Amino acid sequence: MKAFSLCAALLLLPSLVAAQNAPSATYDATDRVFRLDGGQMTYVFGVNPRGELQQIYWGGRVAATDTFPPARPKPGWASFDSSYNNTPQEYAGWGAGLFNEPALKITFAGGNRDLVLHYLSHTQTASGFDVVLKDIERPIFVTLHYAIDPESGILARSAAIENRGAAPVTVEQAAAAAWALPAGRYTLNYLTGRWAGEWTLTQEPVHPGARVIESRRGSTGHQANPWFALQAGGPDENHGEVWFGALAWSGSWRITVEQDQLDEVRVTGGFNPFDFGYVLKPGEKLETPVFYGGYSAQGLGGASRLLHSYELRRILPRTAKTAGRPTPRPRPVLYNSWEATGFNVNEAGQMALAEKAAALGVNRFVMDDGWFGQRKDDHAGLGDWYVNPQKFPHGLKPLIDRVHALGMDFGLWVEPEMVNPDSDLYRKHPDWVLNFPDRPRSEQRNQLVLNLARTDVRDYVFGFLDKLLTENEIAFLKWDYNRNWSEPGWDQLPPGEEKEVYVAYTRNLYEILAELRKRHPQVEIESCSGGGGRVDLGILRYVDEVWTSDNTDPFDRLTLQDGFTYAYTPQVMMAWVTDSPHWLNHRSTSLVYRMLSSMQGSLGIGANIRKWTPEETATAKRLIATYHELQPTITQGGLYRLISPRNGSEFSATETVNGSRSQAVLFAFIHSTQEERGFPLLKLEGLDPRAEYKLTAVEGKAKEGTPAVASGAWWMHHGLEMSEEFRGDFQASLFRLDRQ
Ligand code: GLA
Repeated sequence: MKAFSLCAALLLLPSLVAAQNAPSATYDATDRVFRLDGGQMTYVFGVNPRGELQQIYWGGRVAATDTFPPARPKPGWASFDSSYNNTPQEYAGWGAGLFNEPALKITFAGGNRDLVLHYLSHTQTASGFDVVLKDIERPIFVTLHYAIDPESGILARSAAIENRGAAPVTVEQAAAAAWALPAGRYTLNYLTGRWAGEWTLTQEPVHPGARVIESRRGSTGHQANPWFALQAGGPDENHGEVWFGALAWSGSWRITVEQDQLDEVRVTGGFNPFDFGYVLKPGEKLETPVFYGGYSAQGLGGASRLLHSYELRRILPRTAKTAGRPTPRPRPVLYNSWEATGFNVNEAGQMALAEKAAALGVNRFVMDDGWFGQRKDDHAGLGDWYVNPQKFPHGLKPLIDRVHALGMDFGLWVEPEMVNPDSDLYRKHPDWVLNFPDRPRSEQRNQLVLNLARTDVRDYVFGFLDKLLTENEIAFLKWDYNRNWSEPGWDQLPPGEEKEVYVAYTRNLYEILAELRKRHPQVEIESCSGGGGRVDLGILRYVDEVWTSDNTDPFDRLTLQDGFTYAYTPQVMMAWVTDSPHWLNHRSTSLVYRMLSSMQGSLGIGANIRKWTPEETATAKRLIATYHELQPTITQGGLYRLISPRNGSEFSATETVNGSRSQAVLFAFIHSTQEERGFPLLKLEGLDPRAEYKLTAVEGKAKEGTPAVASGAWWMHHGLEMSEEFRGDFQASLFRLDRQ
């Protein structure tokens, strides 16, 4: 009997696993409890007796047979914190004495500013629920969308706010969602930085009060990124519970992490309420961005692997060539001459570089800034998107044809949302920029921001890009955006409505990108904003990759890239190999070190390859060939950050394992060894313990006596020891493991 039940259980195992992956959205009508299950996560909320939508549970997946008690409001605390204030709501209106961060704040005509949202109805959707809330008295309706991904458990939440009244109302604050966790000790992880110094992982204990992560800049920003991860206890890469989230919005945004008066934690995120005001006329609706949330019990590493897989499967766009594929194709290896030639581009020079690039095994040749208008430097030309006749007397065709003949496709740099005052466009349309009439217009990099919220500007931008892509065989656009907003006026609108620019601008940006992709389904796009200033899950629905940072120093890159991968997949993380000594830190490094640093992401070459010696050319060619072989594992596999380069570490290492666990790729870097300390033992992760793997050293050496073939268990438990020769400054090794 015992043996039989064991067999039966084993037979049942695959279906149990399948059941765990099935999305499920159930509603218990008696207790008014909504439950969503996906991957390893369960999310539960319910209607409490007052009618508010209250969060009940967010955490590890529990059994389908488990039930949750119905939502019950928290009691008030003395006469100062009401039950309304203490109860974690899914989407709280600012009213009834709410002092914590509201999800929605509205001013009605006539001055009333009280909003209390109660459950009205719901419908079940393909992957979750749409739950309708309504103010207790006024015709403000809010539909909360919930959609869970069966594989990762990542939950997409957003809200649609609708005015069904007879008078306009002003939305002053609108979140996409609010998340809540019970009282406990948590570490908050978030990403901060600046130009050439993005992606710093900042970790701090959650304290009473609020930590605000935001951009007021009109775009995502280098200084903070709309991602967070809360870990129970201290930070841990491999273990422990992590609740994480990412906001899909490329305009001004805000995420507030609060430890409230009862020590509970609430995370509210959406449009930045600073300088916000959106007028909803009768019958109008405002859709918020999506706030994604997920859960992992495998530490920060587990959380980022879930996000990476979700981005690859569910966020990133496909092209005509990759339509219907589960994940996008690995990025073509590109060449870009920005660091080599700056604005000094011309037909002969670009052709000479293209010859060299093709000989290295590069797939895509990208011409950067300088090819258009009167663009000699950054003082003029932005806005005038015609080919500069002195630099390209026969247009772009001869260069593009040459690039094609060399077996590469062709990409082009554009900065569509900007204008130099010294341009024909600005002379013709000085009113097209963001500005307040009769006030100075603050320039940054000698440029102003076109007000993309305007229909005429949107049409102009779409029009010239559409023409460019129709008239030339362009496979790729590097879409740049080199400043943030100032004087964000939109004087076409009545004064009370001007602040809608924060929403309308970004929506039009998305619309242009979507329309271009539809009209030119073969074209791929990179989001660049002076490096990594516009990277978020909103823009990633429309672009295939991002420019990680203008900082291409290979040592700095290790930390930048490490930080980047907490939120974003290496697939989109463009990484160029550039010249040594590097222009930022004046640091000299070997070509192998530079190549390996960039090979951790989607590889590009940005060096002055005309100056490379035959040996350097041969090294790059050999490593690009290796990269082509390993790229699917590196950029789409499960990433394990074995040793972080952060906090002045002497060493760092990453490992990626492909989906079938047949291959693993390992990068190891030394900053500077000290006191003769050797490289730490590397215990690998994510392999099949029973399979046999062959170790190949692509660069560097393992310690003498290391087996050529050993089990996954051996590599994971015994670990890989590096050769004692692996010492010094700025050294790099690369290994691969292939299942036998
Ligand atoms: C920005 C980008 C660079 C380059 C220049 C061109 O700084 O991040 O890669 O394209 O603009 O002006």
